[in-house]
Amino acid sequence: MKILVIGTGAREHALVRALAVGEAVGESHELHAAPGNPGIAALAELHAVDPMDGAAVASLAVAIGAELVVVGPEAPLVAGVADAVRAAGIPCFGPSGEAAALEGSKAFAKEIMAAAGVPTAMAHVCTTDDEVADALDAFGPPYVVKDDGLAAGKGVVVTNDRAEALEHGAVCLAKQGGALLVEEYLDGPEVSLFCLTDGVTVVPLEPAQDFKRAHDGDAGPNTGGMGAYSPLPWAEPGLVDDIVARVAQPTIEEMARRGVPFSGVLYIGLALTSRGPRVVEFNARFGDPETQVVLARLATPLAGVLLAAANGRLADAPPLRWRAQSAVTVVIAAHGYPQAVRSGDPITGIEAADALPGVHVLHAGTVLADDGALVAKGGRVLTVVGVGADLAAARLAAYNGVARIELPGSHHRTDIAQSASTA
Ligand code: AMP
Ligand code: GLY
Repeated sequence: MKILVIGTGAREHALVRALAVGEAVGESHELHAAPGNPGIAALAELHAVDPMDGAAVASLAVAIGAELVVVGPEAPLVAGVADAVRAAGIPCFGPSGEAAALEGSKAFAKEIMAAAGVPTAMAHVCTTDDEVADALDAFGPPYVVKDDGLAAGKGVVVTNDRAEALEHGAVCLAKQGGALLVEEYLDGPEVSLFCLTDGVTVVPLEPAQDFKRAHDGDAGPNTGGMGAYSPLPWAEPGLVDDIVARVAQPTIEEMARRGVPFSGVLYIGLALTSRGPRVVEFNARFGDPETQVVLARLATPLAGVLLAAANGRLADAPPLRWRAQSAVTVVIAAHGYPQAVRSGDPITGIEAADALPGVHVLHAGTVLADDGALVAKGGRVLTVVGVGADLAAARLAAYNGVARIELPGSHHRTDIAQSASTA
């Protein structure tokens, strides 16, 4: 099968890696990526097409004879790139622009959750500074202020400082059509659960945990994600079934009922509070970096199941098989991330890391300089994945990989999966 993957990150590198594996032993699929990155180039043919340009993506898919297009990031989905691909007659894994509003507008997501009876944080939608101040005082600290629209994981401020909460509110409102949510604070461990769906049938993947804050001990600002692990040895055995029944299935049914069927992956970000699981966020795509650990454990070839989801045949797909292994991923971020990022620093040691048993390195913000050297370009530069018999072994592998890599000024967390692997 010829498959085109849209995106540039380590999530897409992980997708390409998993999609390359064919259904029959020894078989592989032909991979293309747009625009891709230097790591993806080892597995797929790269095409210099703007991922936000639906018409260009659709004509590329037609030109190469793609039989499946997989759209990685949220921005092209919200912009309707999946619609353009489907209009060209090619199966596409990813929701329509309208359905991607589950991620693109937090206010819309709250409306769907309310209609579907899905447990989530109470929230006020605000469009003026006064409304923000009133909502902050109604909930009290810790304050949670969220940009309504897409903000690459950086739209949320959680703080005890009322002035900081008001300041973030003012920044969100200053944007064109600015709106925000002030939410009740949810306490408890967070879980990311990806549910594949064709708009009717829901197939959950294994859950993962993400580390959103920039620094060890969950200090520093929120980021797109600094590391992840799977499985979750501390989770209740029935957690996934419970989330499918209480969150995924009702949400997918509500979207279908409104005539906005959601197909692709519904990313459910949850807080396991003392009062039960609550949805923190929906995303309309795979999570980054959680995908890197979840796909490292998936034994079933990914291409067949994503095609089944794209074609509305997920009910016929065989049950997913998982490796009895654990995976840990650590993000190496550029100097300054998540604030002003420094680009152009040279990266070395990837081959040495890749050569370690149970380790593979995925590219995100990398680019080849004019002289052919690999340099950093972007906030999250690499994710190093370690796989092992248990979380402790996977963690050791991942950090051994990280230790082989040199990137001047870079930073990474040293505590990814630490408490889970010693519990
Ligand atoms: P979001 O963009 O909605 O995923 O939020 C990013 C991160 O902010 C989440 O992963 C949480 O760590 C934190 N967060 C968001 N909403 C809440 C909430 N209501 N209570 C506590 N933390 C939250
Ligand atoms: N890791 C969080 C996200 O992908 O949004």
